[in-house]
Order: sequence, then structure tokens, then C-alpha cells
Amino acid sequence: MSDSFARSTRGVRDARDWGLTRRAWSKASGFDDIDLTKPIVGIAQTWSELNHCHIHFRQLAEAVKRGVWQAGGWPLEFPTISLGEFHISPTTMLYRNLMALDTEEMIRAQPLDGVVLLAGCDKNLPAQLMGASSADKPAIMMTGGPMLTSSWNGQPLGACTDCRRLTEDLRAGRISLEQYQEVENALGRSAGHCMVMGTASTMASLVEALGLALPGTAAIPGPDSRRLRLCEAVGRQIVEAIKQDLRPSRIMTEKSFENAIRLMLALGGSTNAVVHLPAMAGRLGLSLPLAKIDEFSRTTPLLANIRPSGKFHMEELFEAGGIPAVLKELSPLLHLDCLTVTGKTLGENIEHAKVLRRDVIRPLADPLAPEGGTAVLFGNLCPRGAVIKQSAATPSLLKHRGRAVVFTSQEDLEARIDQPDLDVRPDDVLILQNIGPVGAPGMPEWGSIAMPRKLLDAGVRDMVRISDARMSGTAGGTVVLHVCPEAAVGGPLALVRDGDIIELDVPNRTLNVLLSDEELSQRRAAWQAPPPKYRRGYGRLYVEHVLQADEGCDFDFCRGQGT
Ligand code: FES
Repeated sequence: MSDSFARSTRGVRDARDWGLTRRAWSKASGFDDIDLTKPIVGIAQTWSELNHCHIHFRQLAEAVKRGVWQAGGWPLEFPTISLGEFHISPTTMLYRNLMALDTEEMIRAQPLDGVVLLAGCDKNLPAQLMGASSADKPAIMMTGGPMLTSSWNGQPLGACTDCRRLTEDLRAGRISLEQYQEVENALGRSAGHCMVMGTASTMASLVEALGLALPGTAAIPGPDSRRLRLCEAVGRQIVEAIKQDLRPSRIMTEKSFENAIRLMLALGGSTNAVVHLPAMAGRLGLSLPLAKIDEFSRTTPLLANIRPSGKFHMEELFEAGGIPAVLKELSPLLHLDCLTVTGKTLGENIEHAKVLRRDVIRPLADPLAPEGGTAVLFGNLCPRGAVIKQSAATPSLLKHRGRAVVFTSQEDLEARIDQPDLDVRPDDVLILQNIGPVGAPGMPEWGSIAMPRKLLDAGVRDMVRISDARMSGTAGGTVVLHVCPEAAVGGPLALVRDGDIIELDVPNRTLNVLLSDEELSQRRAAWQAPPPKYRRGYGRLYVEHVLQADEGCDFDFCRGQGT
């Protein structure tokens, strides 16, 4: 235990430190002198009735506590902000940084020797990892696990890959409202987070690659008793991590971030990870340029056959050996010497891992696709980058040239997208402006722009869509996201007009608007920034300090280490 950690617990452990009130108030809670001598383990609790994905977290916390007591520690649970993806408006991403601040300051300020982070739904994982990295006390993340796979009409149902598909089916009149309501009753079969390789499953998997979770954490279904037993193991291990001073800054290194990128690509993971990983790295003073992610994308095959890029769900990934098995398959491309919270290296952690279902986890020599799921694009439309989940796109659209159909805001899109007189053809390119980090603000998951009704009616299922927003990790389609810089700060996306020709070339990693530099300069000179959406409070703090997508959308004043 380092001196700096011991300082925050002074007065709790030893009466000679003049900690009368700290000790007295602990005793008022029913703890006695023996408890007060033990390493103090905080459990960052994000249970909330407004966050379904965390609805079983009280039970998880109790299991972690049993483990902490078993190993001679003193567990103390404390609440932080909890971000439920479907209840928070306008977008949970607006509050990821607020949760990271809350988590960092509570870990730093309270008398804790180490912390167990309980997270499940999308933004909670990066928020806790960002906060814990900045506080830099020994930490282990325990995720909530995916929901059990559901079914409807004899077909498996995956949240929320099928939510979008079935909503489009309803809009196009292919299913009735009664059938849609049957889906509503079937979709969420158990506690846990979305059961496809969405953002929650992706981030939970990456935490294993980063070394901040115990092996096997990500894929055990949320209600499975094996998750509770793993929680006990986490409780025991955090006490050991405190003794060995296994702080995030010792574990989350440049090499472990590279391992996480490789895993994300091999899983066909959520494009949101391309925002969260640079934000997390930035907290540790590390840089994770998009160019590196693309370089890795070209040399990391797609191995996991999981929706939305593949066929199966997280339950089958668990049966196939889980993330340790994927990492084992990826071993030749990984830094196996990275330290992890087990006190062992990543290579030692996965030494005995085995792939148990080859239809779910493909061999490195015979992958689902030769390249990773996510590609990074550059060009005059996105000088600082844009991303596309090529594994979930229509192959014939990955090289495409088309006429721009421009929407200047989400409101504009909603007002016109289903109009019968909308001038749109299947080979056009839909452009949505001003929904990036500053523009929306909060870079919501509005990038999987709804298909125009008249094209849906004509049987068109996909077209090229481009925006400065994000998209849910559970979604698919030929959707270019995170265009950087965003329109609201004057990025080239703001300059595109109806009828301009857009050229997308994913194999060559380019995205351009076919306009001369001179024309772009003239349009830039005439461009005016949209008025800010917030004039006070947290929203104002956010728009004044949020970084662009290529830097992870963290606050500029939160990067780097120290206080
Ligand atoms: Fe929480 Fe999908 S709604 S992970």
C-alpha cells in the first residue's frame, strides 16, 4: 500500500491519527475496531431503478463484499451517477464526463485503499474507467453481464439490433402494431445489458484486454450464478491488488491499449469504443491516434461471429469460451507481457483458455473477414478522421459515389425524412449536420439515420449515411460516423450542400466531397456557427470544454494525470 493511499485513510485506521469523528462515525454504522484495521475497499455502486441494465447490481455488490471480507478487507459501498441508455435525454454521452468526474472525485476524496467498479450499460464503463484512471487507486472493474437472448416468432431477438430492424419493419408496414407490442414484451428477458456486441459488451470485453477485469468477466450472462461467484473472486482480488499496489496507471499502458484495439477489431466491436478508448488513454497521459486504430484494423482479422457484425449473441460467445478464448486466438498479435489486476500477465491469464465453438470464434488463420470491423477514413470531408463499421455495412456500398441530400439538424431530419416529395434516390448519400459533441450537444447515437419512407416502401434497406454523431454499437448499415471536426465548430461537413457529390472509398480509407479547395474556402468564409444550445449549468461547461471525437470527447481540463 503506497503512502499516498494511506493518507486518505488516516484517522480511520488508527486512533493516534486524531481520527475521532471518522472512527466514531464508522462505529456508529456498526463496524468495530477489527474492521477499522483492514484495507478499505470502496464499491462504486451504480444500481438505479432508472437503469435496467444495472437492476441486479445490489446482488453483485453483496457478492463482492463477501469476497472482500473473505480476504481480510473492509468493503464499503457508495453510490455514483448511473446512466441508463434509454431513459436519459438527450443522450447519455452528454453525461459520461459528469459521471467520470463524480467517480474520480469520490474515489479520491473518500478514505479508500482501492475500489471495485460496478458497471454495465454503455457509458458507465468508460466513465468509471476514466474516473478511476485519474484517481489512480488500485481498481478492478466488475461488469453486469449481458441479458439472456430472447426470441419472438421463432427467431432470436437481440437488443437492440432487432429493435431498429423491427421499428423499420413497422414503419414500412411489414409488421403490425400488435406484433410490435409482442416484441416489446419479449425483448428484455432478464437483467443485464444488451446481448449483442453493442457498446456495453464491447467495452466489457475491452476491460479484460486492458487487464482491469478478471478473465472471463465480460461474457457470463447477467443472471448466471457464475457471475456472482466471479464477484466474490473480484472481492478477494481487490484486497490483493491493494497489497500489490496494482493501480490503473501500472496496468493501462500503451501496450494494453493496443491489445484492447486488437480485441475491439477482432470482435467487430462498437464504433463507440473508438471514442471511449482515446478518452481513457488521455486520462493516463497517453495518446491513441485514429491512424493507429486504422493501422491495426488492416492487420487484425474479424474473428467473433456476433451480431451486429455476425450471427450469434453474447450467450453463445460465453459458451464458446468467452473473451479469454478470443484473446487466446489473437495471441500472436497481442502484447502478452502486460500486467493485469490478477498480478499476472495477460499471457498467463489466458494460458489455459480454449475455443469451444468454432462457429462462434473463428481461427486466426480462417477468420470471418481479413480486416477488423472498424475502419478509419480521412479526406477533405473529415481531415481529423471519421469511422465506419465495415463489418456491419453493405459490401457493395463500401466504394460509392453519390449526390448529397443534406439535413442541417435532427429536427430538420425528422421533419422531412418521410415526406413523399423528398428528393432522394437509393444511390444518394444522406448527410446529417450539427449533431456532434458541441452541436447536439453530446454526440448522440443519431448517426444511423432513419431510411426515407419512400425508399423503405420501395424495398431499399441501406444507403450511405454520414454525420458527426455516433451510432449505437448494436446498429448496422453503411453509416459513416464521428466526422471530425464536427459541423458545429466549422468542420467541412458544415459546408456540404444538396447535390454535392460525395465519394466514399472504404478500401482506400477515404471520404471526400468533390469540391475544389477554392469553393470550400468560399463556403467557409460565409459559414456561421449555430447558437449554443446551453447558456448555463453543466450543459455550458460541456460545450465550452468538450474535445472533438478524435480525442475522445473528454473535457480539455481532465486529460493527463495528477490533481
Ligand atoms: Fe444498457 Fe443497451 S440499454 S446496454
